[in-house]
Parts: sequence; C-alpha cells; structure tokens
Amino acid sequence: MPGAAHITDVLVRIASSGAIGIGIAAALLIAVRMLAPPAQRGKLRLPVVLLCFHVAALLARMPLAPTSSLHRTLSVVSLFFLLTALGRGAFLLVVDLILGVRLGRPLPRIIHDIIQGLVYAGVVLITLRAAGVEPGSLLTTSALLTAVIGLSLQETLGNLFAGLAIQAQRPFEVGDWIQIEPDPRLIGQIIEINWRATKVLTNDQVELTIPNGTLAKSTIRNFTKPTVTARRTIEVQGPYEAPPPVVEQALLGAVASVPGVLLAPPPFVLTARFDDSGITYHLCYFIDDFARRDRVDSAVRQRIWFAFRRAGISVPFPIRTVRMAEVSPESRERSEADERQRRLQSLRVVDFLAALPPPLLDRLATLSKTCLYMVGEVVIRQGAAGHELFIVQSGEVSVIVGREGGSTAEVARLGPGKFFGEMSLMTGEPRSATIQAVSDCELVKVDKAAFQEILAAAPGIAEKITEVLVARQSALDENVSVRRARAGAEEAKTTALLGKIRQFFSL
Ligand code: CMP
Repeated sequence: MPGAAHITDVLVRIASSGAIGIGIAAALLIAVRMLAPPAQRGKLRLPVVLLCFHVAALLARMPLAPTSSLHRTLSVVSLFFLLTALGRGAFLLVVDLILGVRLGRPLPRIIHDIIQGLVYAGVVLITLRAAGVEPGSLLTTSALLTAVIGLSLQETLGNLFAGLAIQAQRPFEVGDWIQIEPDPRLIGQIIEINWRATKVLTNDQVELTIPNGTLAKSTIRNFTKPTVTARRTIEVQGPYEAPPPVVEQALLGAVASVPGVLLAPPPFVLTARFDDSGITYHLCYFIDDFARRDRVDSAVRQRIWFAFRRAGISVPFPIRTVRMAEVSPESRERSEADERQRRLQSLRVVDFLAALPPPLLDRLATLSKTCLYMVGEVVIRQGAAGHELFIVQSGEVSVIVGREGGSTAEVARLGPGKFFGEMSLMTGEPRSATIQAVSDCELVKVDKAAFQEILAAAPGIAEKITEVLVARQSALDENVSVRRARAGAEEAKTTALLGKIRQFFSL
C-alpha cells in the first residue's frame, strides 16, 4: 500500500528529526490540557510519560554511531513512544474533548474503545514497518502464529462482535433494568457496555461484569422495554374460611393507594392454588419505577396486613405449627375484653356521647370494632357509599375534599375523640369527603345497626351529631358568599335534616 508507506515515512521522518516530533506532541498535549475539564486531566499522564520516554531514547542514541544496531533499535523504540503519545493525545483531543465534552456527543463506550484500539494497532503497524518488518508477512508466513493468535483471540473477538451486535440491535441500553435468565440474582441496571463486557449494577450496589458473548447467548428480560411499566406479583395466602371474593376485595383495597403502584393498568387478583394451609392468591399490580420495586412490594405487604386485619381475615399458619391450638378461648376472650375496655375509654371522651348513660356506652363498646389503619391508607373515599361512623381512638386522619377540575384540599384534621362518617351514616348520601390516615391509626368503627340501637335508646344524641354535621357541611362549601347567604337558613336546615334522620331511622 503506497499511501500507508508514505504516511509511515512522514511519521518516521518527523520522529527522527527529534525537535519537530517533540514540538507537535507537546503542542497537542498542551491543547488537551487547556480543553480538558479538571476531572479528565489525569488522562494526560500516560502521553506525557511516553513523550518523556521518547526524549530519553533520543538522548541515549545521541553518542552512538548512526550505523550501529543499538542506534537503530533506539530509533525504533523512540518512534514507538512518540507515536503512542501522539495517538493517545490526538484521541483524547478529538474523541474525548471535542466530541464528548465540547459537542456533548460522547461515543458509546464500545465504539470509543474500538477506535482507541485501532489507533494503538496503527502505532504498532507503523513501528513494525519502520523496523523493516512487514506486518502482513508476519501473519501469512507463519501458519502457526496465525493459528495461535486466532485461537487466543477467539473469545475476545467473540465478545467484541457480540458487543457490536448489541450496540447495533439495541436489545438494551445503558440505564435499562435487565435480568439474565434464569438466575433471579442477576437483575440490575446497565451502567456500561464496553468492547468486552456489559456492566450491571444490582440493587445490592454490586457490580456484575457479564461478557458480551455470554449475553448474546442468554435470554435477557428487559424490564424497561418496550415501556417502563412492569408487573409485580405478590403471593398471599388466605384462610379456607374466607370466601375468595372477600379476600380479593381486601387485597385490591390494600393495594389501591400504595405510592408507586399505578392506577392503570389496574391491579388484579388471581386465585392461584388450594394449598395445605390455605388458598394462595396472586396480587398483581404495575409499577413504573423498577428500582423501587422492593420498597413498593414491601409497602403493599404491609397494607395487606392491615386490610386483612380489618376484614377479619387471618393469614394461615403452616399446617405443621401448633400455635393456633395454643390460643385458648379464655386468652382470646381476655384480649377481646382488653380491646373493648380501651374502646370504652375512647368513646367516653367523644363529646356527643358524653351524655350517654354508662350501660349504653358499654353496649356501644361491645357493638363497635377497633380497626387499624396504616399511614397513607384511605379510610373513606369521597363519593363512595358508606354506612359506618368512625371515632378516632389514636392517631390522626385528614379530611380531604375533591373539587371540580380534579384539585383537592384538606379541610380538617381529626385526632383522638373526633368522629367522621356521620353524614353518610345518617343521611344515606354518598361520602362527602375522603378520609386518609396521616399516621398509623386506631379507629372505632360503628356500623348502622349498632348506631341505630344506641340512637333508639338515646335519641338526644342525634341532635348533637346533627349540629356538627351541619357545621361541617357548611365548611365544605367553598363559596364564602353562598355560605353567608345560607347562614340564616342554617336553623331551618338543622330542623329539616333532623326530620330526615328521624325518618331514616324510624325514630
Ligand atoms: P361522610 O360524608 O359520611 O364521609 C366523609 C366525612 O368527612 C364526613 O362524613 C364527615 O364526617 C367528614 N367531614 C366532612 N367535612 C368535614 C369538615 N369540614 N370537618 C371535619 N370533618 C368533615
């Protein structure tokens, strides 16, 4: 190739002249130093050291006769150092700084590495030519050498071409979450694809380096493609006593407002198996932030515990445990009595119940139920039907009203002793607001039948509740002027509502 020979000659002449070669290399390295951001300046160390070696080799050959073989060897060595320094410097300048930093278009790692490799290969070829060795002849004349090189590079070249295929096909890219089948431990986010391997960072912050050849042969699950939406499945067991539709409702209610769970596609439940100790359900839901999957799964499991507790569904123990048998009816009664006692204490401080005679209060404590809610859970949803009154035993809830146009506003916070849900219970209207737990809460739930029984025995409490109810309805009214106009009508409204309630409960 005459062109290549010409370039080689020019480069050899530049290098032999000493001053010109050193001058060009120094100018190149100064340009790199000026353009490089501080973090990248460390990359200059190698070309500077190579340039120093070049100068040292030139100085060492100075006293020698130009015809001596040592002089010739030192010339070739100095040429190698200079070309490597020039190659590396030019690569840094063009690829890393001008393309990557100035133009903001960094090359994919694999292309970057291949170009760098080609530059070094060119340096070796030119040095070989300058030393009088024809590189092509090296390979063609020695079949053994060709076989050795071919065999030893087999794996490396396989990885290189697999890497190029990945780059061209893009089954995954840097930033994607993938799993290499079938090992579930091999799940991680791709942080780099280079000429030899792909690097993946797992949730444990452990870096996996997987050879591109292995990746090309494996089945890859990509959780980020074609969309970032990924399905999660949680396996839960319910007891045989609980009908599957009831368990399904509890599971769907539990997952409904967990942060990170998508509303669309909606969650769903599959009744999966009838097992030894219970019925196995699969709760399926979708997320769009795969990195947070474990936390979302955990939050869903926590919510399931609360939802099961509220619905009176027990998580079955494995059949071989004897713990169930150890719970004697007496100890269960004792713990129920304790809970009832705590409920009674809470009911005593509720203002509209204050006037209730002790036996009636006692009866209410027996008829009602303590329910646990986790922070963030929705107790009541605006617009839903409902027939229960709740009294806050511990914790705090927020009263949130949705307005036309989709905005929401918190209108009140209710702590221990306060009640909510009276509007729907007493009027039969849909829920007027959403109630959400702002901390873990214990709520006393009074259903319509229990409330009716107490109301029949003490009709006076209807008036007290109605006063609160009317005040709350007014507060719900956003329009101040409308509220003012209605102020006069409040008394009439109280009477009308009271009539409606009396009629509803046939008092
Ligand atoms: P209900 O409509 O059954 O369900 C939502 C509940 O939120 C409602 O009953 C009231 O108990 C409560 N609520 C509505 N507005 C207010 C308010 N302004 N202050 C306190 N509680 C409210």
